[in-house]
Amino acid sequence: MTDDVDRNRRHFLTVATAVTGGAGIALASIPFISSLKPSARAEAQGAPVEVAVGSLEPGEMIRVLWRGRLVFVLRRSEEMLSRLSLVSKYLDDPNSSNADQQPNFAVNEFRSRKPEILVVEGSCTHLGCAPLEQFEVGPAADWYGGFFCPCHGSKFDLSGRVYKGVPAPTNLRVPPYRFIQDDVIMIGVDSGAA
Ligand code: FES
Repeated sequence: MTDDVDRNRRHFLTVATAVTGGAGIALASIPFISSLKPSARAEAQGAPVEVAVGSLEPGEMIRVLWRGRLVFVLRRSEEMLSRLSLVSKYLDDPNSSNADQQPNFAVNEFRSRKPEILVVEGSCTHLGCAPLEQFEVGPAADWYGGFFCPCHGSKFDLSGRVYKGVPAPTNLRVPPYRFIQDDVIMIGVDSGAA
């Protein structure tokens, strides 16, 4: 078991090294979404945050802040969604049984209101590092794309579900949110319309 974890960790450290530069570029080149409302001051106080997702391409992810927390908003392609059932045997909580990690609406394979739009907190459930996106399949046989935490090697799938045998004890947390328009979500509330 330990050997397996170490081997996986070494593999992903290699992958992470390869993608860290790219991730840095992505962070620098993808500005925090410009349509954040209300004001930054209100946001800092914990007000809900609006995020426009209409311009997100399949496979594209943006990062926003809500209550000072990093939140990933990813538009998954049909092909990415098709991998979710393939990876479930490697996961510790594939059915989102831990009620603390998502609102009721996200207790499904997609862990989301709309299958294509994933909204998860970008905070590893081990010690809080920000996981890196690694959306491609492989080269490890059990890797179907998702998020890798380089701090201690935790792995999460494309729905933020944690792998077995890693330090992180739970799935990534899904914050409360709802769609206030077809292509606009509000993070911080989950009552009312879908
Ligand atoms: S903080 Fe992510 S694995 Fe430790």
